Amino acid sequence: MRNRFVATVAVASVAALGLAACGSSNTPTEPGAAPNTSLATTAGGAGGEVGVFTWWAAGSEKAGLDALEKLFKEKYPNDTFVNLAVAGGAGSNAKAKLASDLQNNQPPDSFQGHAGAELADYIDNEQILPVNDVITALGGESVFPKNLLDRLTVDGNIYSVPSNIHRANVVWANTAVLKKAGINAVPKDIKAWMADMDKVKASGVATPLSVAGSWTQLQLFETVLISDLGPEKYGGLFDGKTAWDSPEVKTAAADYKKLLTYANTASDGDDWPVATDMVIDGKAAYNVMGDWAVAEFAAKGKKEQTDYQYFPVPGQDGVFDFLADSFTLPKGAKNPGGTKDWLMLIGSAEGQKAFNLAKGSIPARTDVPASDFPPYQQSAMEAFKSNTIVSSIAHGAAVSLAWNADMTTAISKFYTTKDDATLVTDLVAAAKKNLG
Ligand code: GAL
Repeated sequence: MRNRFVATVAVASVAALGLAACGSSNTPTEPGAAPNTSLATTAGGAGGEVGVFTWWAAGSEKAGLDALEKLFKEKYPNDTFVNLAVAGGAGSNAKAKLASDLQNNQPPDSFQGHAGAELADYIDNEQILPVNDVITALGGESVFPKNLLDRLTVDGNIYSVPSNIHRANVVWANTAVLKKAGINAVPKDIKAWMADMDKVKASGVATPLSVAGSWTQLQLFETVLISDLGPEKYGGLFDGKTAWDSPEVKTAAADYKKLLTYANTASDGDDWPVATDMVIDGKAAYNVMGDWAVAEFAAKGKKEQTDYQYFPVPGQDGVFDFLADSFTLPKGAKNPGGTKDWLMLIGSAEGQKAFNLAKGSIPARTDVPASDFPPYQQSAMEAFKSNTIVSSIAHGAAVSLAWNADMTTAISKFYTTKDDATLVTDLVAAAKKNLG
């Protein structure tokens, strides 16, 4: 299969892409004609129900969606927001339900996807339509970073509107636990980090590192790959330039195996807050989690530095493990006008501020002032501008849905067997199957 993610198109001018519909009106749809997918311009919205499918069903994630829903109701009073969220972090349950709804031609009006390879699946299957007109109406390249638009562009078209940018390679740490263990510096690489974990153990905390179900393990593993391979070779894993059985991948598998000896025993169904809360509650020193975690610390009343700290996973200072949630216009959506109202809302500066303040992520737009955000997000905005960007495996930026599923199976099997040689063999097989 062609890896459409790496085959990005230079977005010389987003303004040059499919502008025809911009500002057009509500031409009535002739019976039997294709539905009117032009940008709705009706004040107050196109009207009707707008079913939005996400996995933001609980806790701080729901708070982010709620902020959007509130604003949507204010801006588009004619529209009725219908929340179709399915619980389970990283879409662990939602994606199967979405696949079957799409398969049965019962798409929601918009669904959450990840910028990058994951969206390419829906594009290849002709399940989503271009939204170039919405991106242009929102300001195109003048408000969205070029490197993000590149990741959203396939064969000259943009198929989703990004709501945010998350960073996956962050260690969240409990300040008091580190202090008790006598740790006062950020470890420089994975091995130094494990030496610190020994100190945490010696101070009486049995599980220095917290993990939850399979996708959180895959995310942890991807960050070990980034550290042990470096950003360039890590990027090469997805276009065949780096072998999945290279010495560096074998080192990463061995490091990952050792890391798990410091971790709690997780059940497959444990969602990410279970692991992050272990740090919040002082039952673990460290959790590697995307920066949606900062919203969990905030929700529990925890204060940065006093209660918790954060730093890039050791060995990857200056590297930003990227993912972005973005929303689509599915083919066959019942209310495309309402969908476009939703897309305009989530892509607006106001929508991005409201959502990202609650979610822990940073706006995908560059014109939302950093000073409106707390220190963590300010630092993430700086990092996104200056760091080397790599793509997350666990969150759809680097690999297709099928490849992600195969890697999750391998990681989940490894969690039981702890056989790192077989993990490498399984990863080689997954790459062969999915890269072609
Ligand atoms: C990611 C998603 C984030 C967050 C996280 C945990 O896939 O992009 O927004 O929801 O899962 O559920």
